[in-house]
Amino acid sequence: MAEERNNNKAGEPEQSGIPRHIAIILDGNGRWAKKRGLPRTAGHAAGSENFRKIATYCRDIGVEYLTVYAFSTENWQRPEDEVRTIMKLLERYLNEAISTMERDHIRMKVFGDVSGLSPKLQKLVAKTNEISSRYEGFQANICLNYGGRNEIVSAARRYAEDYAAGRVTGELTEEQFGNYLYSAGISDPDLLIRPGGEQRISNFLLWQCAYSEFYFTDVLWPDFTSAELDKAIAEYQRRDRRFGKVK
Ligand code: FPP
Repeated sequence: MAEERNNNKAGEPEQSGIPRHIAIILDGNGRWAKKRGLPRTAGHAAGSENFRKIATYCRDIGVEYLTVYAFSTENWQRPEDEVRTIMKLLERYLNEAISTMERDHIRMKVFGDVSGLSPKLQKLVAKTNEISSRYEGFQANICLNYGGRNEIVSAARRYAEDYAAGRVTGELTEEQFGNYLYSAGISDPDLLIRPGGEQRISNFLLWQCAYSEFYFTDVLWPDFTSAELDKAIAEYQRRDRRFGKVK
């Protein structure tokens, strides 16, 4: 099933009006907290709670994949207590997800260099991956210790290894290369949303966003409600997706 879904490379837009795949850069947690006189870490707690709400909403309206940027390969350079809090929140989140995924048939995958995470987090990631492999339906992807360039370089390395070992032959195609990325088997994002006021991609899904529609808003992530998501989808529906062709 996942293989069949991996067909909307450049050329095949979704037809329903609801994006099949939404990607979100979770930005603005720190400012949200500052505005309220709270520590930045309180912003991350609110941000993680909002992820839960938006993921449920996406599932309910028929989105197939939601991919969020929670922690980049560069975010380790933040103050130690902030990194610790984010890791704790992720641990708590994955723990809770494990107990509800089976009931709700929600799939959750982690995209990123898992080997750089704590042993505890690695175990939780393995468990969520295992549960996810047993279900079909809505899938949330959390990008964690993730960087777009890093993803492409590690895919290239693994491809080169397979080639040298004779496990793959012939000329490399885009489709084949896509199978070495974390997103293997998943359609590319139709809509990329960045709340928090910045208008840049910040090393997120560089390969996969080749033909995504971008939506930027000043609303900070913890304030990004389902009504805000509706606005982003309405804007997306007004776009003319040509995938480099002439209509
Ligand atoms: C960006 O806001 C946010 C992050 C780097 C961390 C995001 C992490 C979470 C929401 C917690 C866990 C997530 C999940 C999916 C359970 P910022 O700190 O850069 O905000 P600022 O730009 O206002 O400073």
